[in-house]
Amino acid sequence: MEERHHFGSRLGVILASAGSAVGLGNVWRFPMEAGRHGGAAFILVYLVFVLILALPVMCSEFVVGRAGKANAADSFRRLLPGSRWSLAGYMGVLAGFLIFSFYVVVAAWTLFYTVECLHGALLADRDFCAYFSGFSSSAWHPLLYVILFMAANTAIVASGVHRGIERFSKWMMPLLFLIIVVLAGFAMTLPGASRGLHFLLTPDFSRLTFDVILSAMGQAFFSLSVGIGCLATYASYFKQDVPLMRSSFIICLLDTLVAVFSGLVIFPVVFTVGGQADAGPGLVFITLPRVFNAVFGASPVVNYLFSSLFYLLLLVAALTSAISQHEMVTALVHEKTRLSRPQAAIVVALCAMVCATACSLSFGPWRSITVLGMGFFDLFDFVTAKFMMPVGGLCFCLFVGWALPRSLVARELCGECPSRRAVLAMSCILALMRYVAPLCLVGVFFYELWSR
Ligand code: PHE
Repeated sequence: MEERHHFGSRLGVILASAGSAVGLGNVWRFPMEAGRHGGAAFILVYLVFVLILALPVMCSEFVVGRAGKANAADSFRRLLPGSRWSLAGYMGVLAGFLIFSFYVVVAAWTLFYTVECLHGALLADRDFCAYFSGFSSSAWHPLLYVILFMAANTAIVASGVHRGIERFSKWMMPLLFLIIVVLAGFAMTLPGASRGLHFLLTPDFSRLTFDVILSAMGQAFFSLSVGIGCLATYASYFKQDVPLMRSSFIICLLDTLVAVFSGLVIFPVVFTVGGQADAGPGLVFITLPRVFNAVFGASPVVNYLFSSLFYLLLLVAALTSAISQHEMVTALVHEKTRLSRPQAAIVVALCAMVCATACSLSFGPWRSITVLGMGFFDLFDFVTAKFMMPVGGLCFCLFVGWALPRSLVARELCGECPSRRAVLAMSCILALMRYVAPLCLVGVFFYELWSR
């Protein structure tokens, strides 16, 4: 059997996993959801879900991946041979594939905006609503960018875990952190900064409905890439000395910081021109270019730099996440067939292109084709975020919390001779994994069924 690849260092582990977590979910989806649901109240609920759901699910994915040392499905099978748990792994890989298919469409829009921005095409004040819908609803134009994005993605995944994914993340993640801090620092000097901060920090609990709570939960799963075995696949490349609990905590922290910083970039700018914070999905592609022009119109150089850096940030975030989705499916195909890693990466890319085409066309010529009342893009998003990720998360928690031998879990989580602090932390994580997260997920699931 071929020897398993490994990430080279602990820093590489953190940066690659944080790269998976930090993505469009943080810079595009989080401010959009927070804007729609009243800002700080949504953020507080989101933070609670990160702690009580995403963190334990992430730890359980790490345990499954590192102990199983295989793709998401085979890790389950190796740890409990003959059981049906590997079905959860297969469902996760399918979810990863579906997410990849619609994710690359938004990533392609981002690539288009970055290119246009660098060309200076976004500097003129124009009708950005027509501009965006003209682009996203055309048949070929977005597909061209999907192909370019997919090619870059495939090249990185095909280069391998250490030479491709880790090396890329080690360069890109520090760049991403730097860009977001510079942008947030600059945004804080704008006249709308205090209103933006107020919106982000003062909770209005009257807007907290059950739907808002559900959205916060979906956002926590999506933003931290948990519940589908994506991080389990990365963990199968961790060396034995990587501290799983500490790494999970750092990744959750970094991801949350980037999400909040994205809010710190976007809302001060939006409020400086008295814009709408609850602009929805168009926030980043319609409202922001308009707002950038209004705020920085007097100094084209600042406008150019600020908007180019912003779209570059979005692009880097999209790329480091998309490679993790691509990798989890590639790992399965590579390990289950005779295909080499580069061949497997290409096959996955080609299959994903087919679904991505359907998702992209659902904004244009295929708008009228619907399943359950939704176009392909919305359908994939709905099925994965509302169903597959929470169910997958539940399976990971139950598997590690109840089905695996306690000694194995303890060895993975705290190492051979654990300190008292590590044992205490493990007890907390295990309580979340065994009781809190499953009860919460089952409760939400039944509520959803019942309220339909
Ligand atoms: N966490 C990524 C983001 O925030 C999305 C993602 C979901 C990545 C699932 C991998 C797996 O954009």
